[in-house]
Amino acid sequence: YVIGIDLGTSAVKLLLVNKHGDVVQEVSKAYSLIKEKSNYSEQNPEDWVDQTIEGLSDLLQLFKGTPEDIEGISFSGQMHGLVLLDENHEVLRNAILWNDTRTTEECHEIYSRVGRERLLKITKNLALEGFTLPKILWVKNHEPETFNKAKHFVLPKDYVRFRLTGKLHMEYSDTAGTLLLNINEKKWSKEICDILGIDVNMCPPLVESHAEVGMITTEIATKTGLTPFTRVFAGGADNACGAIGAGILEEGKTLASVGTSGVVLTYEGNSDKDFQGKVHYFNHAAPNSYYSMGVTLSAGHSLSWFKNIFAKDESFEELLDEVESVSIGANGLLFTPYISGERTPHVDAAIRGSFIGMDSSHQRKHFVRAVLEGITFSLNESLQIFRENGKDIDRIISIGGGAKNEDWLQMQADIFNADVVKLKSEQGPGMGAAMLAAYGCGWFNSLNECANEFLKEDRVYHPIAENVEKYQTLFQLYKLVYSATESLNK
Ligand code: XUL
Repeated sequence: YVIGIDLGTSAVKLLLVNKHGDVVQEVSKAYSLIKEKSNYSEQNPEDWVDQTIEGLSDLLQLFKGTPEDIEGISFSGQMHGLVLLDENHEVLRNAILWNDTRTTEECHEIYSRVGRERLLKITKNLALEGFTLPKILWVKNHEPETFNKAKHFVLPKDYVRFRLTGKLHMEYSDTAGTLLLNINEKKWSKEICDILGIDVNMCPPLVESHAEVGMITTEIATKTGLTPFTRVFAGGADNACGAIGAGILEEGKTLASVGTSGVVLTYEGNSDKDFQGKVHYFNHAAPNSYYSMGVTLSAGHSLSWFKNIFAKDESFEELLDEVESVSIGANGLLFTPYISGERTPHVDAAIRGSFIGMDSSHQRKHFVRAVLEGITFSLNESLQIFRENGKDIDRIISIGGGAKNEDWLQMQADIFNADVVKLKSEQGPGMGAAMLAAYGCGWFNSLNECANEFLKEDRVYHPIAENVEKYQTLFQLYKLVYSATESLNK
């Protein structure tokens, strides 16, 4: 067996997986966000560690076999979050997360000191508030006493892995989202560090995602029930792991995923393609490959926000059941999901969401449909960038919240104008993490071989011509809302 640990934004999910890719047991442990201001988003790394240890212990209690049968563990993690450590590896402050947008000034600072062209050349990405480098600069500028004590930085899952093994590493797929990696040479950019006054020695050693980095410490073994011989593999960024867990391992494969954020990502065999930073370009967690990706900041988050306010006591299933009875276009109601700013395509942390076209005939179900359509339109904007840059995309694997509801899957097929595939017992990034452990343990010769054994398609949703046409008209309206509301939000 192997364990895939997915350290998400709202919870850590742990999957125990056998040699055929069946999930034998699963456990989920929630933790909360700390939001001191509306554009702040932090978490206490100790909560991740506590919940992961408790989750492992629960998983081991549910497990019918012996702990020796669990050969390896790997990780998937929420990207970009900054964890600062002092010389004794003690955490210096709360982690600043991927969806924290306090760093607009620091993004300007990066452009003025490093230069946009040089940044794009080295990292292939733009300076966005969510990425790690602007957060490091924010601490340097606003909390210099903390910054002066900082001797290492890591990303969320790397910190949890450190606490389980005592070994500090980072791996390429998550490091690509820091803006400090030369993504082509797979080396820390000393050039960017020097320009910005960051000691390159703060950056831990880099390894591949399937690399074995150590074993469980005896202390953690005692607390969890694992044996101290359990092998630990580095793991990857949640989007890279989501892609592995959906078999996005060769040219032409594309994924749409709805978690707290939403992404559309497509496999890239090398770092040659140039989107001029319009979409992110990151190292894959599969060896020697990349992916390009557009991000909707509040995808599942828009739906959970809506549910918390208007349907607190109902389940997501109950809420989404209402969608079927409303026709395409939600009777004239249109939603833009910019409730905490937007990444792709607008790169605008200050924009806010809208409901346009409210009418006294609208009921809650119209709002629910409008929210789903708005999230899917936002994902479609990323897809449009790929298509405009010459990518033929006619088949998309859907995972996460968007794959849990038949109407939403059909909506994706119609809005994306592509076949949308639902996987059998889809498990998201946690499965990608388990696959990295399985590959690391030597169960398979490649991740592709592992995907062939582990992943099965369930159903394909084909676009319906009449719906595609309706959505295309609505999508043009959706795109107008950004420019029409931009100045109202600032
Ligand atoms: C990607 C991003 C989010 C997080 C969610 O750039 O910020 O998708 O990875 O955990």
